[in-house]
Amino acid sequence: MSKKPVRVAVTGAAGQIGYALLFRIASGEMLGKDQPVILQLLEIPDEKAQNALKGVIMELEDCAFPLLAGIEAHSDPMQAFKDTDYALLVGSRPRGPGMERAELLAINGAIFTTQGKALNAVASRNVKVLVVGNPANTNAYIAMKSAPDLPAKNFTAMLRLDHNRAASQLAAKTGKAVADIEKLTVWGNHSPTMYADYRFATIGGASVKGMINDETWNRETFLPTVGKRGAAIIAARGLSSAASAANAAIDHMRDWALGTNGKWVTMGIPSDGSYGIPKEVMFGYPVTCEGGEYKIVQGLEIDAFSQECINKTLKELTDEQDGVKHLL
Ligand code: NAD
Ligand code: LMR
Repeated sequence: MSKKPVRVAVTGAAGQIGYALLFRIASGEMLGKDQPVILQLLEIPDEKAQNALKGVIMELEDCAFPLLAGIEAHSDPMQAFKDTDYALLVGSRPRGPGMERAELLAINGAIFTTQGKALNAVASRNVKVLVVGNPANTNAYIAMKSAPDLPAKNFTAMLRLDHNRAASQLAAKTGKAVADIEKLTVWGNHSPTMYADYRFATIGGASVKGMINDETWNRETFLPTVGKRGAAIIAARGLSSAASAANAAIDHMRDWALGTNGKWVTMGIPSDGSYGIPKEVMFGYPVTCEGGEYKIVQGLEIDAFSQECINKTLKELTDEQDGVKHLL
């Protein structure tokens, strides 16, 4: 093994998603089976959380992962983010039954000011940041605005769970393999306003829209099912999604770091103005990744219904942004 270890910071490391995430990062599923990693784990200073983190670390040790080159436990982001190459910001309160994700802003928003500032001060200048904690887009926006010395493009929000949910619904509807679905995307906010868009999607080169040919299903079944999937899981489990969220985080970081070979994926990224979205709004876009950089898929036609959906999710995001001005 000749590669130099990279530093991966994970916040909320003793939480539900943390437990489904860390073992997969340590086994090489995120950055490759030849890439050693040092885990820099952050939890709140609370004794119970720190004890739980100790337990998780004992289990990580007991796996004897060949790629795990070091594990650190922290309660201070200034230490947890020191020189980190990747930062997965998971730590924050999940919603419970009957809540919307945006309601978490008041509780969670301030976490991302502190953590953005800490990343700004001590992380690698090339750090790749993924915000998972909800509401993910606006928390990522807060972190990005709190880190003026880092490139804004290094901050991203997780829309991949929505992308994967949409792919799975389309596979079930068409009876085709989920792995064969290409050119799918989810525009906008990780909230029920997200616009899962399969107008360009293909399976084995054939149009998914042509296969389904049912606009009523799109509007009345597909979009609400994908948009409200998080709430459906909370209602069923009594807890928010964890394994599927961790899986999406792995997918997001792996594709960003290692590339997508031309395949489209969805990432929440600061807008560069593409598709009329104001600059810096943290928006779900179709992207391809190569050489550690993402690139927005350009030139897609936006029809009237799609524009209406995009406007709605954008309005929600700009309202959320307005609501966090005091944190910036
Ligand atoms: P959890 O309550 O099981 O774990 C969260 C952990 O974060 C806890 O251990 C807590 O102590 C820790 N934490 C809280 N504040 C912290 C801070 N300032 N620094 C470090 N650690 C901190 O919750 P979970 O189920 O793991 O979910 C975590 C977040 O991810 C929630 O906000 C949830 O809504 C969100 N989520 C997002 C997506 C997505 O698709 N973007 C999907 C699922 C869950
Ligand atoms: C999800 O989509 O499963 C997460 O964002 C958790 C939630 O609150 O819905």
